[in-house]
Amino acid sequence: MENKVFVMDHPLIQHKLTFLRDKNTGSKEFRALVSEIAMLMCYEATRDLPLQDVEIETPMGKATTKVIAGRKLAFVPILRAGLGMVDGVLALVPAAKVGHIGLYRDHQTLMPVEYYNKLPQDISERDVIVLDPMLATGGSAIDAISIIKRSNPKSIKFMCIIAAPEGIEALTKAHPDVQVYCAAVDQKLNEIGYIVPGLGDAGDRIFGTL
Ligand code: PRP
Ligand code: URA
Repeated sequence: MENKVFVMDHPLIQHKLTFLRDKNTGSKEFRALVSEIAMLMCYEATRDLPLQDVEIETPMGKATTKVIAGRKLAFVPILRAGLGMVDGVLALVPAAKVGHIGLYRDHQTLMPVEYYNKLPQDISERDVIVLDPMLATGGSAIDAISIIKRSNPKSIKFMCIIAAPEGIEALTKAHPDVQVYCAAVDQKLNEIGYIVPGLGDAGDRIFGTL
């Protein structure tokens, strides 16, 4: 399957993204915004979940209506910053399981270093949505998805808030079967691998470790 990159230009998402980018936004508000944006993005990223008919009775009589057709989801945040998106997506899909992949970028090489990996045991029966607010060089997303693929999930989507063109290019090349969802594609990476204009270091802004 060919990758598609979905840029979510819904006004509510774009409005919240502006405040997320603002350097004067403190950690408390930043965390709330990441969570709210993740929830709105999840609404769109689950649009293709299949439905099936069920028979129910309303107070007025019988009705044939729809429920989600037994699809099981797993969310996998990339630590640390992906953790900020978990509450928002679980608000929409509370029955989903949550795995964790711990990766950090080596500041010199910009290469991701793995330090944690715990995925749901039944991940091979699940559709996975990987969460990370930032797609910069793409190295972290590419590695996280390669790690998850070893457990044979049914499908994988990648959801980030801000993407760099370089990251999209690298990720779609490395994993052409993975659909990518983002709220914005920014101009470029700077010389130390940060997204411009971006929002700075997402993990530090979420956890107040600046
Ligand atoms: C950030 C971000 C991504 C990664 C993106 O994490 O949350 O995981 O960088 O960069 P890449 O596309 O070039 O790999 P970071 O390494 O700063 O770790 P942290 O979340 O623990 O702060
Ligand atoms: N990671 C971040 O948190 N921000 C960037 O701009 C790039 C990578």
